[in-house]
Amino acid sequence: MKKVAVFVLLLVSTTSQIASSVKDGLLPNGNFEQGPKASELKGTKVMSGKSIPNWEICGYVEYIKSGQKQDDMLLIVPQGAFAVRLGNGALIKQKIRVIKDMFYSLTFSASRTCAQEERLNVSVSPNNEQNDSGLFPIQTMYSSNGWDSYAWAFQADAHVIEISIHNPSVEEDAVCGPIIDSIALKTLYHPKRTRANLLKNGNFEEGPYIFPIPTSDGVIIPPEIEDDHSPLPGWIIESLKAIKHIDSEHFSVPQGKRAIELIAGKESAVAQIVKTSIGRNHVLSFVVGDANNGCEGPMMVEAFAGKNMVMVSYNSNGKGGFKAARLAFRAESTRTRITFYSTIYTIKSDNSGSLCGPVLDDVKLLSVRKLHHL
Ligand SMILES: *[C@@H]1O[C@H](CO)[C@@H](O)[C@H](O)[C@H]1NC(C)=O
Ligand SMILES: *[C@@H]1O[C@H](CO)[C@@H](O)[C@H](O)[C@H]1NC(C)=O
Repeated sequence: MKKVAVFVLLLVSTTSQIASSVKDGLLPNGNFEQGPKASELKGTKVMSGKSIPNWEICGYVEYIKSGQKQDDMLLIVPQGAFAVRLGNGALIKQKIRVIKDMFYSLTFSASRTCAQEERLNVSVSPNNEQNDSGLFPIQTMYSSNGWDSYAWAFQADAHVIEISIHNPSVEEDAVCGPIIDSIALKTLYHPKRTRANLLKNGNFEEGPYIFPIPTSDGVIIPPEIEDDHSPLPGWIIESLKAIKHIDSEHFSVPQGKRAIELIAGKESAVAQIVKTSIGRNHVLSFVVGDANNGCEGPMMVEAFAGKNMVMVSYNSNGKGGFKAARLAFRAESTRTRITFYSTIYTIKSDNSGSLCGPVLDDVKLLSVRKLHHL
């Protein structure tokens, strides 16, 4: 009979760890460059709950060195030389000092290593809201290098909170499970609507932390996000699939430093509900372009304001560029839903099979007296 090793998880009491206070950027040892002592490792397995500085772990956690091989796959780490892998049921957590009631966005990089479906569950405690955790399917469909950065947002319900990332899978092979690297936090400010723009955060300047490293490939904003807890303040991701937040350090961005890329066709829609006065004329203006990321071909963005709609075509050569578009309409309700999605599915021309799509930026909604004045 095959011998089954049973690992008993010793629950480590949460006593003496001092919470660090963070600024926007990596959490203390957020890229796992400081690792366990050799005596606390058995192969790659981390043997004790507190041997990774600043972190507490539970379950089967491996300390991974960049360049290490798994079967015939070479494991590459996006930041520095080390990362951790969460086996089935494993968890890592860290206590940090924050400002109570403030909104924060957490960005982390993850990669899957086995063929099975892998997921990560991100949560904070304490949390006054029920069911407020983020369940992320870890797929390698968005970036070319196999690593994606994901964002999740929360409101701090205490001055000291604990951030946990958990692999909830219960598959047979304990060594399967996503690799995680680079966990960062950023304070989120909620831009207000102004007379110059009835939409909040219409230029997408406010959003999650994007790693300032050369391999940075934007941040995935997961689907089914409500606007009060969105890592993209003001906006709802109301689709089945994610959208990507991109920055001008790494991509071509039409206006300012940030924009979004509609990466999953009709399955990735972004929306905002705006207060409008019935009978009042409005103009919705925006720009559509491409991110200079090898996303080539005909593109089409559909913009809706309530029942009104405009289709904007854009022919991308994958080298950056944009065009302006607008939709004039008369409000028929006290609340108008503004929605954007991409009609066409596009895949990058680099043979990676990664989904990509049109860039949307500089979205403005104005109330105007007469439509023909524009
Ligand atoms: C939390 O989730 C459970 C199971 O999905 C559901 O039954 C419950 O109503 C949810 N609670 C809240 C407050 O949303
Ligand atoms: C995710 O974590 C939260 C907080 O610990 C928990 O309530 C929830 O049930 C978890 N979800 C899954 C699918 O494990």
